[in-house]
Amino acid sequence: MNSEFSAVPITKHVYWVGAIDWNIRDFHGYATSRGTTYNAYLIMDKKITLIDTVKRPFFPEMLARIRSVVDPARIDIIVSNHAEMDHSGSLPEAIELIKPEQVFASSMGTVALQDHFHWKTKVLSVKDQEKISLGELELQFFETRMLHWPDSMFTWIAREKLLFSQDAFGMHLASARRFADELPGNILVEEGANTSPTSCCRTRP
Ligand SMILES: [Fe+2]
Ligand SMILES: [Fe+2]
Repeated sequence: MNSEFSAVPITKHVYWVGAIDWNIRDFHGYATSRGTTYNAYLIMDKKITLIDTVKRPFFPEMLARIRSVVDPARIDIIVSNHAEMDHSGSLPEAIELIKPEQVFASSMGTVALQDHFHWKTKVLSVKDQEKISLGELELQFFETRMLHWPDSMFTWIAREKLLFSQDAFGMHLASARRFADELPGNILVEEGANTSPTSCCRTRP
């Protein structure tokens, strides 16, 4: 397999399995001169979990990255932190392929996803601060309405000190690098100032 499409380890249990959009130059109104990144994460625990998906045309790329770690059919849970299509565009295909036990979103996210997809698929609403156990790790959900849409929520793994923050602290940037400290500071400052939220970049744990 092309190593370009491998998962990137973030912690012992968590891998980045998103996609890089090198060519996009207009992200619904935002100039994206350096492209953008769609972030999805795989958590390997007793309950294998996928956090978010990617824009629909990039579904095969996400799948290839997941397959570099695990057969996608073994995923038990999908969490949707944000209903916009750069996070949820592949959710119908992912659900169809994976047939997860459970799909979770915020209460507003559940409504937004049903509106987008007219699903019969049941998406379970999680409450603010609700926790679920994956085995060794525990996920905790936080409603973050208007950070940056009404449906937005964060997922937090306290033990790994890892926050899946959807678009709240992001920027538009395509890069082969996954960690902020691998990138020139001036690019981070420039893109952080330029763009309203989308995905990408955290400092290395
Ligand atoms: Fe968004
Ligand atoms: Fe986004």
